[in-house]
Amino acid sequence: MPAGSSRVSDSPRTTADPVIAFEPLNTEERVRIIDLQPDLGDLHAEAIAGLRSADKHLPCKYFYDALGARLFEVITELPEYYPTRTELGIMSRSVRQMANVIGSHATLVEFGSGVGLKTRKLLDALIEPAGCVLIDISRGALEASAVELAERYGNMEVIAVCADYTQPLRLPRPRRPSARTVAYFPGSTIGNFTHDEAVRFLERVADLVGRGGGLLVGIDRKKDRSVVERAYNDALGVTAAFNLNILRRLNETGADFDLGAFRHHAPYVEAEGRIEMRLISEVAQTVQIGDATVDFDAGEHIVTEHSHKYDLGQFEEMARQAGFRLTNHWSDERDWFSVCFLEVGGA
Ligand code: AVI
Repeated sequence: MPAGSSRVSDSPRTTADPVIAFEPLNTEERVRIIDLQPDLGDLHAEAIAGLRSADKHLPCKYFYDALGARLFEVITELPEYYPTRTELGIMSRSVRQMANVIGSHATLVEFGSGVGLKTRKLLDALIEPAGCVLIDISRGALEASAVELAERYGNMEVIAVCADYTQPLRLPRPRRPSARTVAYFPGSTIGNFTHDEAVRFLERVADLVGRGGGLLVGIDRKKDRSVVERAYNDALGVTAAFNLNILRRLNETGADFDLGAFRHHAPYVEAEGRIEMRLISEVAQTVQIGDATVDFDAGEHIVTEHSHKYDLGQFEEMARQAGFRLTNHWSDERDWFSVCFLEVGGA
């Protein structure tokens, strides 16, 4: 049994549920797209506000244009970037146990567009899911994923909701009766929120899935700082390109950042338990962003992302504050990463 994992059977559970028996779905019933028209915000206004504050920062959501999304894909394959491969290993080993903990006829809600290998592993193992709700801000990626999932899982309803999941939202119900609602938030993306944002996000998820509902969430664990720093400062410079891409994006909309005058550096800040993705100004310079200007001293940095690493106890406490109880967790043998199952309510 992997270190830190809980005792749950991994033999497939049968679906001898006398109440819920699913009729096959016709084609129109299989995919539904709901566009809540998320407000993507004004990139310039947000950038100027962030860069004029005492601790210069930019919102990490702007990493993910088409190029940024591709660069992130490459990051997940880098030898130094352990989280994706470690989490996938945990899923491969323990997904049946996870499916048994979730139980049959659940509605799965995924934050993110959901075509990833981890989601497919989970859906392959789930026992007759009532449906799958994908929530993502990017309509294009979402539609493609919804169709792909509906084709792959012919007898499962897929509902795609185009919305910003960091904001409050109401969940559509699948047509079929559902035993419970369980959200899935893989990838340790929760670590990209600040501590308070993460607790508020967990509160919203608890509200969304309701009493008896759950959340399966990946968290990156605290470990030797050299391991973490290597993961965010890779030798090929892919993470550097991913980081600098945020400035290239701003340039596309009327800024004049000299990409050669900023350098990527991502230290682990022990006191905060997080990686800080930084862009350091190599020289004193003034940058134009639309009608505004921002001054940089030589050596001054912009923080573009936080990536928090957690102790299990610390994460359990955050979950408790949000109204969840940690009931199960599965980890790799080095305890570098954990997939946790949280349930709303309970003792
Ligand atoms: C998406 N997120 C979980 C990644 C992380 O590890 O915090 C983003 C990332 N930033 C740099 N490398 C990867």
